[in-house]
Amino acid sequence: FPPERVRNFSIIAHIDHGKSTLADRLLELTGTISKDSSNKQVLDKLKVERERGITVKAQTASMIYNYKGEDYLLNLIDTPGHVDFSYEVSRSLAACQGTVLLVDCCQGIQAQTVANFFMAFGEGLSIIPVLNKIDLPGADIEKTARQIETTFELDISNMLSISAKTGIGVAGVLPQIIEQVPAPTADATAPFRGLLFDSWYDQYVGVVCLVAIRDGNLRKGDRIVSAHTGNTYEVTDLGIMFPHQTATTSLEAGQVGYVVLGMKTTRDAHIGDTFYREHHPVAAFPGFEPAKSMVFAGCYPMDAADYTKLQEALDRLTLNDASVSVAREASVALGQGFRLGFLGTLHMDVFRERLQEEYDSTVINTAPTVPYIVRYHNGEEKTIRNPAQFPDVDQHPHVAAFLEPTVAGTLIFPAEYLGAMMDLCGAHRGLLHDYTYIDERRVMMKYTLPMSEILTDFYDQLKSRTSGYASFDYEETGYEPADLVKINILLNAKPVDALATIVHRSHADRVAKDWAKRLKTVMNRQLFEITIQAAVNNRIVCRESISPVRKDVTAKCYGGDITRKMKLLDRQKAGKKKLKTVAGGVQLPQEAFLTLMKGH
Ligand code: GTP
Repeated sequence: FPPERVRNFSIIAHIDHGKSTLADRLLELTGTISKDSSNKQVLDKLKVERERGITVKAQTASMIYNYKGEDYLLNLIDTPGHVDFSYEVSRSLAACQGTVLLVDCCQGIQAQTVANFFMAFGEGLSIIPVLNKIDLPGADIEKTARQIETTFELDISNMLSISAKTGIGVAGVLPQIIEQVPAPTADATAPFRGLLFDSWYDQYVGVVCLVAIRDGNLRKGDRIVSAHTGNTYEVTDLGIMFPHQTATTSLEAGQVGYVVLGMKTTRDAHIGDTFYREHHPVAAFPGFEPAKSMVFAGCYPMDAADYTKLQEALDRLTLNDASVSVAREASVALGQGFRLGFLGTLHMDVFRERLQEEYDSTVINTAPTVPYIVRYHNGEEKTIRNPAQFPDVDQHPHVAAFLEPTVAGTLIFPAEYLGAMMDLCGAHRGLLHDYTYIDERRVMMKYTLPMSEILTDFYDQLKSRTSGYASFDYEETGYEPADLVKINILLNAKPVDALATIVHRSHADRVAKDWAKRLKTVMNRQLFEITIQAAVNNRIVCRESISPVRKDVTAKCYGGDITRKMKLLDRQKAGKKKLKTVAGGVQLPQEAFLTLMKGH
């Protein structure tokens, strides 16, 4: 296929607007998957995807389509659906020249539609709006079309209205892709240049990379170099996703395919990296940045003896998910453990679930934090990924400023929730930039919010205050100075480093009191009195106490039934297992960390 008969495109949509369903229909239409088996096959694949978390992206596929007597190679490039992976979305969009913007016309434009549109627009892609779910009774084609026109200034005169589910109108999609998406500008005679935009770990062959071939071609046995790491690899296998890995003799300029290079872990496959032929360096693709962790949390074995076991489990899991960063750390309270870095909170939740399955002992996960920057008077900066390392004392003589990461948030919701949404964002230190009506009844607001504020209960609140009608998406916008302070929790007068947290000064007293109260509710009584104190910058702001219990758990048996006695003793033992002894013999349940995670 010469470049002029190749089209590289993606489908972007808000979650549940029908991206996977449309992808299936297109694969069926082109005979890439058969009609009867297709649904099952692709759904099965999706289930595995769900089970394995969200990092496996199975839907990138090539198809051949005959249009006006000519065969075209159409490459559908899948993009991760969640905002946590926005850098990866932008890299996979960089591998396309056009995109189908799919909007459910019962729901209209949602926050993710807007975020995805601007990402595609920024990449200079041609954008084909398509309305989906026209078979449903709630479908409002007119209104959704107008929303698309006002919000994105797209021409809607030839817009397709389809039902990806029943197949109505779907036949019109591929001709539009061929006519509106430009062929890749690829030079078949230039030296090989390829963009790495996705990868996964296969237990038999190692890492499989998805590569968009911009110039030249690639064959089995070729030796290529990663521009980012400088490592050289030999191509041991390559081909196209049709829809599964199908070996070919070469990948030509303009094509998209899989390449196996004998990489041992996906850590070597940097999304956005450029490959070139050995001894023939080329200009790297612009915009490369390694995936950045924006959410950090400690991960400790409940039982110190399990440290190595935990490390092995982490090693196995990160083989397939290089976007999780792992660093050793030690805590006074919790001993030896790890600081894990994630792309966002969903990424963190999924990884923790997988870790729980992979590693059958209990781990203690500390509350998540964003990375803060401390700027010193001498101009040096330090990134703090663990609140325990945050400077304790106010007006620290060497500290010039603290900086926190911020995001630009987009909210879309029915107009009656305007007040509730402004309250919510205000309470989370949001700054309103702009609000517009995307139609008579729906509002779109743009806010700048500190990233730490959306880590906790923001999203749940957003949904519950609007009965689920609001949608939210964000992009990172860099660091801003902020008046931040550290809260320390003291148990029996000893600070517990693993419970330290960083908050804005205006929230500090409230959060400190709230945390002390919440800790009290989840901690067990012990043989001695426990005092819980919370300190803001070393100033104690509150105190709670838990009264002691009597020592002998069997006392109430009055020397009676021995089996009852044993049972009680066992229960005490089992109860103990789930506790971690921290400062001064005080025992802390895992629950303590969980409760504190639930927001300020
Ligand atoms: P994620 O994979 O969760 O991001 O969603 P998605 O955008 O891929 O949506 P998916 O294709 O999984 O569709 C979501 C739901 O909408 C499924 O239950 C589909 O069966 C349904 N759906 C998709 N297209 C249509 C349509 O045209 N009409 C109707 N009635 N339902 C549809």
